[in-house]
Amino acid sequence: MGSSLEKKKEMRKQDHENEESISFQKTYEKYMRDIIPTLPKERGWWFETIVQFNGFWLSPTNSFKGAIFLHHHFRPRPTDIFACTSMKTGTTWLKALIFATINRTNFEFSNHPLLTTGPHGLFPFLDTYIFRNGDDDCQDSISSLDTLPSPRLFTTHLPYSSLPDSVTASSSGCRFVCLCRNPKDVLVSMWLVLKKSRSKELPSFSLDDAFESFCRGVFQYGPYWDHVLEYWKESLESPNKILFLKYEDLKNEPLVYVKRLADFLGKPFSAEEETNGVVEEIIRLCSFENLSNLEVNKDGMEKFSPEIIVNKSSFFRKGQVGDWKNYLTEEMAKCIDQISDDKLYGSGLTFGT
Ligand code: A3P
Repeated sequence: MGSSLEKKKEMRKQDHENEESISFQKTYEKYMRDIIPTLPKERGWWFETIVQFNGFWLSPTNSFKGAIFLHHHFRPRPTDIFACTSMKTGTTWLKALIFATINRTNFEFSNHPLLTTGPHGLFPFLDTYIFRNGDDDCQDSISSLDTLPSPRLFTTHLPYSSLPDSVTASSSGCRFVCLCRNPKDVLVSMWLVLKKSRSKELPSFSLDDAFESFCRGVFQYGPYWDHVLEYWKESLESPNKILFLKYEDLKNEPLVYVKRLADFLGKPFSAEEETNGVVEEIIRLCSFENLSNLEVNKDGMEKFSPEIIVNKSSFFRKGQVGDWKNYLTEEMAKCIDQISDDKLYGSGLTFGT
């Protein structure tokens, strides 16, 4: 009797797995055959081409595919926390701060996972995580997310409107921390990384090319301004769901903003923690000076997908506000400021300077 029940259970499990496998295959075929060929294309920054989907520029083989798969197959939990950023806005820093804040009672600062694993190893980057071992493995990769302990921490560069509805619905309970940065520093930071990491097989991509593309909105996950505005507007409507931070504010007043982060994440610092300097410890642990000097962040490569493999050290360059002044002409800066004024007009948002 017992064994026939077991058999039935095993068969049901097998049926379920087969159904999931067919469903993955269907998503993949729909994406390859029906959607990609219809999308507008432009020259990419990392890749040969990027495609425009629902107003945003995504890589067809990575972020766009990721967005589609997540829509169909990601299962959120009410405790999930998402670090949402555009590229080069300080994602690495935000990951470290969230991880250190959430887990501050689980680890000693002197023997902390951030010291040995680094921010990227602790936080799955959702957009490409499911393809990190190639397309054939993506069903296993997405299923493996179900086995992570709560609260799960994820990073994404996807625009708010490209996140799965199941995640952004108020009923999901998920929380989002968005970090933005002055677009001039974003442009320069991105271009300098590309100079080192872009495939040598692609045509050269000068600062003028990058500037022209960026201003037209043709930027990975961009237009940059639209990406920021989506999160900003949502944070105004649902402040308990989205915390909106600026890189420059974090740099200028880390104490204020790390406390705000802890409050938002439902882990406010106690009076005793404040007296004992726990907030300062977290800021020091996650500082550019500390993280950029750790062996784990200096050596080796970070693999996000078979096509996105970058030097770990490329996430740490200068970590300063306003380094754009060393690269952009006055005319370029004025042009970006003008776009910012136009795009942000009436929104109540200004970029940190
Ligand atoms: P710069 O190139 O201006 O130095 P991302 O993590 O989104 O890829 O962003 C990388 C940018 O954040 C780089 O900017 C990098 O130096 C900076 N950065 C990385 N870690 C930081 C930290 N702990 N504090 C401040 N800035 C940091």
